[in-house]
Formats: sequence, C-alpha cells, structure tokens
Amino acid sequence: MKLMIINGPNLNLLGKREPEVYGSTTFEEYFQELQQKFPNVDLEHFQSNIEGELIGKIQDVGFSYDGIILNAAAYTHTSVGIGDAVKAVSTPVIEVHISNTHKREDFRHVSYISAGAKGVILGFGLQSYDLAITSFL
Ligand code: DQA
Repeated sequence: MKLMIINGPNLNLLGKREPEVYGSTTFEEYFQELQQKFPNVDLEHFQSNIEGELIGKIQDVGFSYDGIILNAAAYTHTSVGIGDAVKAVSTPVIEVHISNTHKREDFRHVSYISAGAKGVILGFGLQSYDLAITSFL
C-alpha cells in the first residue's frame, strides 16, 4: 500500500501556526508517529506553498499510488486547478482538514476539492490524517 500525503500552504508551520486551531505538534513529529503506527504502509509526505507544485505532485503520483491524502489548506477554498487535478487522476484522493472548516468563516465552507474526492475527513485535529490512512486499509 503506497500512500502520499500532500499538504498545502502554511502547513509547514504546524506546531507554531495558530496552535489553538492547529495544535502544537509539527507535521514532521506527527509523520513519524504515523510511520510507527502503520509500519506496513509505504507512506510519503510532500508539502508546498505553491499551487502549481501541488498540482504537479498530484499528477506525478496520481496514476501509480494507491491513495492520496490531500490537505490543500487555503487552496481548498480557491483552486479550480487543484480540484481539476484531483478529478484528472485515477488514484483515489481523500480530502482532509485539521480543523472543522464548517465551524469557521464562511469562505472556508466552500471546497473545490470535495467534488472529486473519494471522501472528506475534517475536524479531528491531526488525527484526520490517521483516519484517512485507515480508510484505505
Ligand atoms: C485547513 C483549513 C483551511 O481553511 C486553512 O486555510 C488551512 C488548514 C485545515 O487543515 O484545517 O490552512 O485546511
């Protein structure tokens, strides 16, 4: 089982970014926990603050990996390009969010990703990623 976690803009700041919303754990720390929890899953992680790089990574892995776990962060609410990339690939994509975006500002209630996603998991903190991995097993 080969899974790719793709994180969008500002998620490189997890641990110090708005800890009351996103927690105080860095993604690198959490990723190590995930690798220990799922030793039989070939897990990779990619982060970019650049829309085109996120689209490129979805295209690169989207015809060969077993799953993509995508937190497009702020681009979730703006990017037709990332939404189209999710629809274009054959690998199933699970959309994840750390926070419950529906409890937050109105602009976060819209997702350009969801229509092409296999499923959506949000609001469980970093555990959203864990639940997404489990959904592929
Ligand atoms: C987020 C929610 C988005 O609205 C926000 O722009 C993010 C993170 C989340 O994981 O809760 O950067 O995707």
